[in-house]
Amino acid sequence: MPSAVAADTPDPVADAKAFRNYFVTKFPNVPLDDFANGPYSLNEDMRRQWEEKEQFPPYEFSLEMGKEMFAKPFKNGKSYGDCFPNQGIGIRQNYPYFDPGEGKVITLELALNRCRGANGEPPLSYVEDEMAALTAYMAFTSRGKPFDIKIPDDPRALEAYQNGKRYFYTRRGQLNFSCATCHVQNPGERMRAEILAPALGILNAMPIYRSEWGGMGTISRRMITCNSQIRGVPLEPQADEYRDLEYYLSYVSNGLPIAGPGARP
Ligand code: HEC
Repeated sequence: MPSAVAADTPDPVADAKAFRNYFVTKFPNVPLDDFANGPYSLNEDMRRQWEEKEQFPPYEFSLEMGKEMFAKPFKNGKSYGDCFPNQGIGIRQNYPYFDPGEGKVITLELALNRCRGANGEPPLSYVEDEMAALTAYMAFTSRGKPFDIKIPDDPRALEAYQNGKRYFYTRRGQLNFSCATCHVQNPGERMRAEILAPALGILNAMPIYRSEWGGMGTISRRMITCNSQIRGVPLEPQADEYRDLEYYLSYVSNGLPIAGPGARP
């Protein structure tokens, strides 16, 4: 493991700085904000494909659907906007956050389902189109805003961060890989037809359309897919470990702009 990202540093501010420096040093030609564009930032050919794609983005359909869903009132007359600060517009960069009342990390996907529950609606699947559409729309209203994840002065918040970090660097599955094996040690390398995204900014463009999926994937879906790729046993979507992992990964990308929804080949 590169020393810049040693797993036992107890200081998130220093962590985030070392994390950013590691990638900036490894890819000196990539402007910092560009890491938000994942594998496209690292590969000229892919960047060209992406720029072409952005003219007719394949997530457009999902974005429209999310916008409609978001505006449509629930049976009780309330809507998603009523559950969020600023009616849910332009707030993606503040998720996930640590909730001191509950002592846990709250992701955007979780907050959306809780909003539904509080209004008498059944939960959405964390890995299917509707959740992807809602988060696509919310990300879109935050495009360009830098990730602004806070770790409040609460030992449980620091612990959640540390747990997320530990999860990220722990090897598992039959292949005995950690998330970092692919996304810290080998970004820019090819894995089958794909170019591995750098861990810096890796959540900024979520949710993401993938041709391979023939549709959109939420953060939950992506984490589960990556766990399966190493022939590990994925956790339930929104398990505490995944929430902490998302907290860690978002925090170390603080300052990089939200770029979602994204599209990948
Ligand atoms: C065996 C290598 C491998 C491991 C280990 C792995 N991933 Fe991935 N991951 C991939 C591949 C391949 C893709 C699709 C190409 C890409 O975008 O990087 C991907 C994509 C992603 C993306 C979307 C990035 C983007 O811009 O498209 C996220 C987020 C992600 N992985 C998170 C994780 C997390 C969190 C873990 C640990 C639980 C993990 N990955 C472990 C191979 C891996």
